[in-house]
Amino acid sequence: MTRILMVCLGNICRSPLAEGILKSKVDTSKIFVDSAGTGNYHVGGLPDQRSIDVAKKYAIDITYQRCRQFTVQDFDDFDVIYVMDNSNRRNVLELARNQRDKDKVKMILNELFPNENVDVPDPYTGGLNGFEQVFQMLNKACTVVAQNVMQ
Ligand code: 4NP
Repeated sequence: MTRILMVCLGNICRSPLAEGILKSKVDTSKIFVDSAGTGNYHVGGLPDQRSIDVAKKYAIDITYQRCRQFTVQDFDDFDVIYVMDNSNRRNVLELARNQRDKDKVKMILNELFPNENVDVPDPYTGGLNGFEQVFQMLNKACTVVAQNVMQ
């Protein structure tokens, strides 16, 4: 079982989409996918309605998801930790205990643009178009992740 964690700040906009999109592309009996946020503002809550809506537009249901905060335990529970932006990466790396933990942390858009450390922009304060753009970026990146992990 390969275990992949998607991480953003709030765990209500970007990482719930990344979780739902990747799950739609892999055999979930072989690949475990989850998401978490570095912040604790929305713990226990549903994904943002705009993420729910854009996922639904592409036939992906993310309404079963509940927000949780990233913890040090996640370094033990997951093989790969995909962060959405450079700020998430700094926050996660601050909690790393050793090099093994650090090596698990990857920028998700590096799957499309290796070593460029491009951010998935935070759509929280913007309009609906930002959620569509985030969906399209994550969809492309998760296609690559799925191809690699299912090999
Ligand atoms: P996310 O977006 O990190 O993609 O879930 C955000 C959601 C909420 C907040 C920030 C970012 N917030 O500050 O409440």
